[in-house]
Amino acid sequence: MAVDFASSQTVCSYFDSRGSLQDNRATVSRSNRGVIRSPREKGEVMFQTRITQMLGIKYPIVGGTMASISNADFVAAISEAGGIGVLNSVMYQTKDEFAAALDRVRKLTDKPFAVNLNFFPARFPVSQSEYTEVMGRKGVKVVETSGHTAPPLELCKRFKELGMIWIHKCAGARYAVKAESLGADIVTVVGYENGGAVGRLEIGTLVMVPTVAQRLKVPLIGGGGVVDGRSMLAVLALGAEGVIMGTRLLATQECPIHSKLKQALINATEVDTMVIMRTVGAHRVWINETAKKCADVEAIGASFEEILNLVSGENSRKVYYEGELDRGVVPCGQGVGQIHDIPTVKELFDGMVKQASDIANRLAKS
Ligand SMILES: Cc1cc2nc3c(=O)[nH]c(=O)nc-3n(C[C@H](O)[C@H](O)[C@H](O)COP(=O)(O)O)c2cc1C
Repeated sequence: MAVDFASSQTVCSYFDSRGSLQDNRATVSRSNRGVIRSPREKGEVMFQTRITQMLGIKYPIVGGTMASISNADFVAAISEAGGIGVLNSVMYQTKDEFAAALDRVRKLTDKPFAVNLNFFPARFPVSQSEYTEVMGRKGVKVVETSGHTAPPLELCKRFKELGMIWIHKCAGARYAVKAESLGADIVTVVGYENGGAVGRLEIGTLVMVPTVAQRLKVPLIGGGGVVDGRSMLAVLALGAEGVIMGTRLLATQECPIHSKLKQALINATEVDTMVIMRTVGAHRVWINETAKKCADVEAIGASFEEILNLVSGENSRKVYYEGELDRGVVPCGQGVGQIHDIPTVKELFDGMVKQASDIANRLAKS
């Protein structure tokens, strides 16, 4: 079981990508599998893969959904910058609020975006099937599911009926294979370094990504520790056709969190995260007073309810939006030690792709 950090209700859904997002599944050649094609544009490798083709995006970069953070404006900024943003549906407590958020994304960008449906345990879950119908009505074309379990079969079937590209995110090879067998069009896998749910297997990204890549036919998005062009290129080299990043995006201009938290993350190093909630669903978080307290109470057998009280979305939002840095938990990956500035999302993505391109060219010549 995992916990919804972010909202006083939970559930997630992802976004949709406008009418401009075509159903490219049929046209993406299987012969492209695992190949990073590199058409040059002003001397740069562009990293076109099945993921960029299927999703209709410029860069193979997914802005990982973040509860209480991935709102319409932030998602639109990520999509406008050439990646794909993922709206966190659990943030919206009613279907009307959720529908309004989808409208807002569309108002801000004509680029593809996705919506996350959350299958982690939630205190006040919304109906996934009702939110899926809202997405269908609003023309959402990409749905991402995540959680400790796969979505129910009826919902997997419904994604297809609604013509959505279905991405499932998980933290283990066996879950990835299962998602593909259930019909996922794309699978995302994250290693133990990642911020948020780390799963039970404790397999790092360097081993996780190639292990899963060689077991799947559908394209793979990999993550956990992706913060720059070096880590992006590494994950692509391991067999993923796209990368997902969450922690790095916290320290961007458009990220709606308090400047005190952004600065604290810049000051953090690779040892400033810890894994808590192993009894209810392990999550990697930034070390602060609440994270330490959570570990302490768990060590003496705290109940699910006691743990939930500490890690509630309400407490996290005090950190995110009021800058009360010790009031709640903040999911955070080990890559935090590599964050040194607060660029715009566009500066971040352009810089990553340039760095990855330069390294690829240098290695090719060596
Ligand atoms: C602050 C924060 C909140 C997150 N919330 C969610 C969430 O609600 N649902 C989810 O599926 N993943 C969530 N994640 C995981 C990200 O979507 C992404 O998979 C992960 O951050 C990638 O690893 P990285 O942090 O090393 O880049 C969260 C991550 C962070 C950092």
